[in-house]
Amino acid sequence: MRTQVAIIGGGPSGLLLSQILHLKGIQSVVLERKSRNYVLGRIRAGVLEQGLVDMLHVVKVGKRMEKEGQIHHGFDIAFQGKRHQIDLTALTNGKSVMVYGQTEVTRDLYEARDQMNGVVIDEVDDVSLHKLDTATPFVTYKKAGENFRLDCDFVAGCDGFHGVSRGSIPSHILKEYEKVYPFGWLGVLSETPPVSHELIYNQSDKGFALCSMRNANLSRYYVQCSLEEDVNNWSDDRFWEELKSRLPKETAETLITGPSIEKSIAPLRSFVAEPLSYGRLFLAGDAAHIVPPTGAKGLNLAASDIHYLSEAFIEFYGTGRETKLSQYSDTALKRIWKAMRFSWWMTMLLHHFPENEGFGDRMQQTDLEYLFSSKAAQTSLAENYVGLPY
Ligand code: APR
Ligand code: PHB
Repeated sequence: MRTQVAIIGGGPSGLLLSQILHLKGIQSVVLERKSRNYVLGRIRAGVLEQGLVDMLHVVKVGKRMEKEGQIHHGFDIAFQGKRHQIDLTALTNGKSVMVYGQTEVTRDLYEARDQMNGVVIDEVDDVSLHKLDTATPFVTYKKAGENFRLDCDFVAGCDGFHGVSRGSIPSHILKEYEKVYPFGWLGVLSETPPVSHELIYNQSDKGFALCSMRNANLSRYYVQCSLEEDVNNWSDDRFWEELKSRLPKETAETLITGPSIEKSIAPLRSFVAEPLSYGRLFLAGDAAHIVPPTGAKGLNLAASDIHYLSEAFIEFYGTGRETKLSQYSDTALKRIWKAMRFSWWMTMLLHHFPENEGFGDRMQQTDLEYLFSSKAAQTSLAENYVGLPY
């Protein structure tokens, strides 16, 4: 089999790239290790920057988002029992974010690929990349025990943090930067009305807590927990009690609780791989970088990578020029490091660090007091939260 761009990974990055290329008449084949149901069963975050919302509309995948998504013009930060609103729209001259689950974005992309007879081959095994440093790379994989070869011009590594693509860049070339945080997020999804019409990021001495939602009757809550925690030790009741203990009193009193339909613990890390390209291989999304979820940047960063990478492929197939392909890594990394900084800063600002006693705590406290007293500081937070320009 032959295609122009072989895309490894059928998550939001790979599917969005395949959709954009299709609309520009560029062929691609998506190879996904898991089944579609498995991919769509993963619960992920759901705050979309304007840039991603615009991209989804351009590639004809915005209808359901427009109908079911919620536009948010701000969010609250709770500190010392008091909520402070960050008015995103006022601070950014009109910008906002869209609350719409990443799982729904992925579902819409799959449907769009189906409608256009896009080639998405799932449940493949042993994906391996070959001759990446030549003009004729190819991919081998197994499907239902049978061996296959896919010849292509380029390979897009959109296979997430645990994929094969990043490891295909020789170790003497690849540089990895990582910070692992000493805690995780215990998250619960519940069919209950959200405690607030906007998100609430809670800083408390007992640890961070987040109140988020998917829609008017589907809420998503998180509490900071130690990495040694076992989710089986957390009954729903224990979760709700712990969450309430971290929220401002009047917010806790209005919290509607109920049975959890999903409960899991996710570790927090900041990770960047450089360079993003090696020969005819180009990394995008979680294959190249991981952000802690505090800044809601994971999916949005994947989307900006795909914006730059698709522009580069479109230039190549339209003009034969490789300018944008050769600049892709540097261009995408500039925005990646800014989102990395913002997500790290939000994490340091809002979580409880056991080793922080004394000076560290006072720095965090003062950072929050400065934030609430300075329009300039709030503007910086807001412009990063709604998304820096591409
Ligand atoms: N072969 C084929 N597919 C693979 C392989 C492999 N060897 N390894 C992993 N995959 C698939 C995974 O099963 C997954 O469906 O690649 C896909 C990668 O998808 P994501 O992990 O969702 O990464 P990405 O598409 O870049 O989306 C980034 O996902 O994790 C969130 O917060 C993150 O929001 C961000 C978004
Ligand atoms: C979520 O809704 O799951 C969510 C929202 C904002 C974040 C992280 C997660 O910063």
